[in-house]
Amino acid sequence: MNVRFRNLAGRAPHALPSASPLDALRAFALLLVGAAALLLAACRTAPPPRAADAPTRIALISDMHVMLDPTNNQQRLYPLRLAKTVEAVNAANVDLVLAAGDLTEYGTDEAFAEFRRRVRGLTAPLLLTPGNHDIGNKILRGGKKDAVNFGRLRRYELNFGRSYYAREIAGVRVIGVNSCIMGSRLPRERQMWKFLEDQLAEPAKTPTLLLMHHPPFLKSIDEPGGDYFNIEPYPRARLLGLARQGEVLAILSGHLHRGLTNRVQDTLLLTTPPVSFGLQGRKPLEGWMLLTVAGTNVSWQFQPLPKVTLPGQTE
Ligand SMILES: [Fe+2]
Repeated sequence: MNVRFRNLAGRAPHALPSASPLDALRAFALLLVGAAALLLAACRTAPPPRAADAPTRIALISDMHVMLDPTNNQQRLYPLRLAKTVEAVNAANVDLVLAAGDLTEYGTDEAFAEFRRRVRGLTAPLLLTPGNHDIGNKILRGGKKDAVNFGRLRRYELNFGRSYYAREIAGVRVIGVNSCIMGSRLPRERQMWKFLEDQLAEPAKTPTLLLMHHPPFLKSIDEPGGDYFNIEPYPRARLLGLARQGEVLAILSGHLHRGLTNRVQDTLLLTTPPVSFGLQGRKPLEGWMLLTVAGTNVSWQFQPLPKVTLPGQTE
């Protein structure tokens, strides 16, 4: 920038060629064409304004597992699937994108930067929540292997901001919940419960969705903990009680690498299949969920990704 400025400034004014009236006309015409092209481009990319009472269209994506050093061909497909997801979500013209964690494989600063780079093409606003791969596993009795800790949580928050929040956007209220710290006894956990109790003290005035990584349970509300995939019984009960009190419409999650729906009273529990790699039997499915929130109604539709292959790969 400085170099260019210096070059221009260093040029003697008299060295510039003098402009004829015809040149001036040409320059003016070029200017008009340029302005028209810019206006056209802006019209093409800007989404139409959203009516206040229109249903809210949301893309729920999860488990992108962005990594810088893939070690096998399966992992090399993850970025291709994420690129397809960005493309499809933009084409669906959603109002909002929610990412339910495992943004990265190892939760390093470099991987977080790479994640940001890979999703910057999204045209709708993006809200995030951390997954166990980003900040560590929930703490289980009998071991703290790869468990969540202050250092990893701090790294995530320095990259993306506080890991729990409430945001009113596009006609809904999204409450981001950090499910990985539940039961950790980290100071952040205590602060988050206080925050959730405040936010969910009253029935919601705006349709409210919780976004988190772990589904509260897999098969039944009173299933035991000690499991990698669900939330431990005590924080589960505490969270579902608050969700009921605050009339939460849906709790949105990922983590399972397969789809799952459950219901607790009036609250939908919806887990999306992953973007990176599916774990559902012989025919794993990768994709994302398209949700529509209209008043107190939530509908959803799975959007499978097309098959992707590496360059030169036939299968
Ligand atoms: Fe995952």
